[in-house]
Amino acid sequence: MRILGIETTCDETGIAVVEDGRRILVNRVLSQVPLHERFGGVVPEIASRAHVEAISWILEAALKEAGLEFRGARPQLDGIAVAYRPGLVGSLLIGVTAAKCLAWAWRLPLVGVDHIHAHIYAAAMAAKNPERDDFLMEEEIFPAVSLVVSGGHTALYGSQSWTEHTLFGATTDDAAGEAFDKVASILKLGYPGGPAISKAAEEGNPKACRFTPAFLEAGSLDFSFSGIKTAVLYRVKGQNACRDTPLRPDISIADVAASFEETVVSLLVKKLARAMRRENAGTAIVGGGVAANRRLRQHLDRLAKKEDYRIFYPPPSLCTDNGAMIAGLGYWLLQRGRRDSLALDADPVAAR
Ligand code: KG4
Ligand code: ZN
Repeated sequence: MRILGIETTCDETGIAVVEDGRRILVNRVLSQVPLHERFGGVVPEIASRAHVEAISWILEAALKEAGLEFRGARPQLDGIAVAYRPGLVGSLLIGVTAAKCLAWAWRLPLVGVDHIHAHIYAAAMAAKNPERDDFLMEEEIFPAVSLVVSGGHTALYGSQSWTEHTLFGATTDDAAGEAFDKVASILKLGYPGGPAISKAAEEGNPKACRFTPAFLEAGSLDFSFSGIKTAVLYRVKGQNACRDTPLRPDISIADVAASFEETVVSLLVKKLARAMRRENAGTAIVGGGVAANRRLRQHLDRLAKKEDYRIFYPPPSLCTDNGAMIAGLGYWLLQRGRRDSLALDADPVAAR
């Protein structure tokens, strides 16, 4: 089964065709970073307009790359999957409308995919059994504890299969990636902040500054990052500074970046460890843009080795937003009988 996947939840227009949930025939991602970088974050109105301008030609180019016809007869597709929640409502609407139009015109089944669940799927879809040199089957991966760390979301789930996830905890304020983006903006390191902070941190001492991570109440699997962000602001600009206050000249940006990264990473690692212990789980899955972070992977790998469990990450190209994870998860949803009608609507809010 070949599924077309459409992703427009935030600032990436992603179009992919995936066969049987795993084999990627095409995965095109148009990033809007050049449009948003001077604002230090995504501007929703600019994002939705850019999706409108891009979606038709990316669709056409992607289908051509996959060897499928776009105009004329119905292309060799078996279904259409679209990320319909959560995200920026204006951005979501573009992908959802495109998907509904194509499903109607080509008379193909339509399925709405939860973007956060798709980030979990991105890690699992690439998981292989080295002995068989083949993809791991669903029952070889699950049950698992899943951590999604992206620009818009930070959450822990108990995952029973590709398609079943129970929320254990989520951020109470900023998402992890958002904290990277905001701190990079304070440190004038550019946008997106994750890769910029990581690069600056390579030259820094992660123990140079003490930023206290917020663990919240005992046993909590929720997250909070806004306190760390404010601690960085005061550290580099002085107590009670605001965004326009200039940086103190005696500050080492590399040390602050490394210490901030270390604090966020240690918080994520400890919360995942807590969930793994509580669930007595043998498998961890980590997805989302921040899963590309090298220091995070090093710490998580060390923990997994020490505590003797398996951990899966997406390849770098599937960490950030893309259509392949939407098409891949859409395949399983369609296989399990999920269908959406043309009344499918964009839903900006994450499922609880
Ligand atoms: O998953 P994603 O593409 O978008 C959302 O669903 O929100 O994640 C984007 C986020 C951005 O905040 C970006 O700064 C962060 O992922 N990111 C990273 C790294 N690469 C991307 N954060 C830390 N380290 C990285 N290497
Ligand atoms: Zn995402």
